[in-house]
Amino acid sequence: MSRSLHVMDAPRMAQIHTESFFKGWDAEDMATHLQKDLCFGHGRPLDGFVIISHAADQAEILTIAIDPALRRQGLARKLLDIAETELADLGVDTLFLEVAEDNTAAIAFYKASGFEPIGKRPAYYKRAMGRVGALTYRKRLS
Ligand SMILES: CC(C)(COP(=O)(O)OP(=O)(O)OC[C@H]1O[C@@H](n2cnc3c(N)ncnc32)[C@H](O)[C@@H]1OP(=O)(O)O)[C@@H](O)C(=O)NCCC(=O)NCCS
Repeated sequence: MSRSLHVMDAPRMAQIHTESFFKGWDAEDMATHLQKDLCFGHGRPLDGFVIISHAADQAEILTIAIDPALRRQGLARKLLDIAETELADLGVDTLFLEVAEDNTAAIAFYKASGFEPIGKRPAYYKRAMGRVGALTYRKRLS
């Protein structure tokens, strides 16, 4: 079941995020995003979530993360579908994102979801062994 999220979901969002990224966001970070951004999740308890900021006709995926044990079951696809429907209703026509160039799973997911590459930001993300670049992607919703 996909659903909107609220502050009670913040600790579980932080847990999934920390399991998914080199530098995860904590529950306080999540509570801040829950106040100002669009946040959709799946399941209760939460299996995964997406956070999207939007202004006027543009939006950006700030993060999307699925419980590592539940990947490749279509959960991220479901979350993106629900988010795109909501964004279109809000008048958003273009969705952007940044992804680390070594994140092959996410790049495959975004390509399979209709995003097109539009640019690159060198040395954008920190890693234990140095920095990696970010790729930027765009999807037209209309
Ligand atoms: C990227 C991520 C959100 C995908 O979530 P998911 O629920 O596993 O993705 P889905 O099951 O909805 O995948 C939909 C399609 O995307 C593609 N895809 C997703 N993960 C893939 C992978 N590891 N390898 C290749 N293709 C993949 C496939 O085309 C897949 O369809 P299929 O399973 O029928 O072949 C998940 O791997 C994740 O949480 N990663 C860690 C956090 C992260 O990197 N987020 C993105 C930051 S920009």
